[in-house]
Amino acid sequence: MRRGAILAAAAALGGVALIGAYPLRAAPDGATVFARCAACHTRTGAGVPGAYPPLGADFRSLAAKDAGRRYIVLAVTRGLMGPITVEGKPYAGVMPAQGGLDDGAVAAVLNHVGTQVAKAGPAFRPFAAEEVGKLRQSGAGLAPADVAKLHAGAGGK
Ligand code: HEC
Repeated sequence: MRRGAILAAAAALGGVALIGAYPLRAAPDGATVFARCAACHTRTGAGVPGAYPPLGADFRSLAAKDAGRRYIVLAVTRGLMGPITVEGKPYAGVMPAQGGLDDGAVAAVLNHVGTQVAKAGPAFRPFAAEEVGKLRQSGAGLAPADVAKLHAGAGGK
């Protein structure tokens, strides 16, 4: 009984410690981070036509090109304010910069999208935290509207 109570307390503390230690963990869980993206892009990544673009063939096509990889990283780290055309549909919305994500967490969520969410498009090449760091830095002065202007030339679909 007493042993059970101690184990339960340890489990509860372990849960708290895990949340507290999250930014220090070497490999953040992309699926966990994706929950915040799903609030807009939906759990399946299908999006909402005209409001939230799908994370599908356009994402994978962008991720196959250097300019597209930069655009994707900057969309997440700087934010994005249309107009853009994704899979033939126009979007003129606002995606707020996703704060609180270090380079490893951004890489993890993009790799989750590229492998588990976006099912169509070219083969997906994973992001490394180091690449995310360089691309984030390369657009440090850009506003969300500047990032949207990169879409057309970045190899999307
Ligand atoms: C508050 C809603 C919201 C959240 C949260 C959000 N997004 Fe977005 N996202 C948008 C909107 C709106 C657009 C399109 C903006 C536009 O029309 O210019 C967009 C566009 C994008 C694009 C560009 C798609 C393309 O094909 O060009 C990517 C990539 C993206 N989001 C990834 C993410 C990821 C990854 C997350 C989570 C870390 C996330 N988004 C969280 C609303 C959101």
